[in-house]
Amino acid sequence: MSKTKRKTINQNSKPERKNQLVLLKHLYYDLLCRMQKENKPPSIHTTGDKMSVKTIVNINSAHRLLHPMHTVLVSCIGKAGKPNITTVAWAMPTSGNPPLLAISLAPGRHSHTLIEESGEFIVNIPTLDILKAVYACGSLTGRSFDKFKKTNLTQMPGKKVKAPAIRECIAHLECEVDGQFTTGDHTIFVGKILEAYADMGIFTESGYDLKQARLLYHAGGNNFSLLDPKLYKS
Ligand SMILES: Cc1cc2nc3c(=O)[nH]c(=O)nc-3n(C[C@H](O)[C@H](O)[C@H](O)COP(=O)(O)O)c2cc1C
Repeated sequence: MSKTKRKTINQNSKPERKNQLVLLKHLYYDLLCRMQKENKPPSIHTTGDKMSVKTIVNINSAHRLLHPMHTVLVSCIGKAGKPNITTVAWAMPTSGNPPLLAISLAPGRHSHTLIEESGEFIVNIPTLDILKAVYACGSLTGRSFDKFKKTNLTQMPGKKVKAPAIRECIAHLECEVDGQFTTGDHTIFVGKILEAYADMGIFTESGYDLKQARLLYHAGGNNFSLLDPKLYKS
C-alpha cells in the first residue's frame, strides 16, 4: 500500500473505527443473547455514515417499549357502595368530539367488576406527591383492602357520577362507560367524559403548568419518572 493511500485511510478511519467498535460490541452482545435464549439474528441498519444495530425484544415484553406511560388513578364504586381505586398506566384519549377516553383493565381486577356493575368511573391525575399511594393502589386489591383508608387518600363527591373523585389528585375526568371491548387479556373501557375539572392555577386550555404539575410516568415495576418541564418548540 502506498504512503498517500495509507494516509487517506487513516484520516477517514476514526469515526469508521468507532462505528466498527460499536457494531462489534452489539454483535457480541446479541450473539450472547442468541446463544442464551433467542434464535434470531440482530438487524443492522445503515443510514448515511451512521450505523445502528437493532436488538430483538421479547414479544411478550414489547409493550414496555411504549413506557414510560402517563399513569392515572381510576376511582369507581359498585353495587355494594364501597369505593375503590386502581392504578392504570394504559389510558389514553380516543376522541375530542364526542369527548372519549379509554382505559385498559385486566378482567381479574376488582375495579373491572365495579365498573361493569356501575357503568361509571373517574380518571384522577396523580402527582409525585402521592407516589406511595399510587403504587399501593396498583399493588393491593379492593377485594381485600379499603384503599382510601390504606393510603389516606380522601374522597370528594363526584359531580355527575356516583364514584368519588380523589382530592389529592390535580385533575379529574368523570366518565360513563360508552363501550367495552375485549383486547387479549385486557378489556378496553371507553369512557364518555361527562365532567372534567382541575386544581386552580395548574391547568389552562393550553395544558398543564409542568413545573407545578409533577405528573407521574410509569417506567416499569416500581419505577416512575417525571417529564422534563421545559417545553421545546418545533
Ligand atoms: C404503575 C402501575 C400501573 C398499572 N397499570 C395497569 C393497567 O393499565 N391496567 C391494569 O389492568 N392494571 C394495571 N396495574 C395493576 C393494577 O393497578 C393492580 O392489579 C391493582 O391492584 C388492581 O386493583 P383492584 O383489584 O382493586 O382493581 C398497574 C399497576 C401499577 C403499579
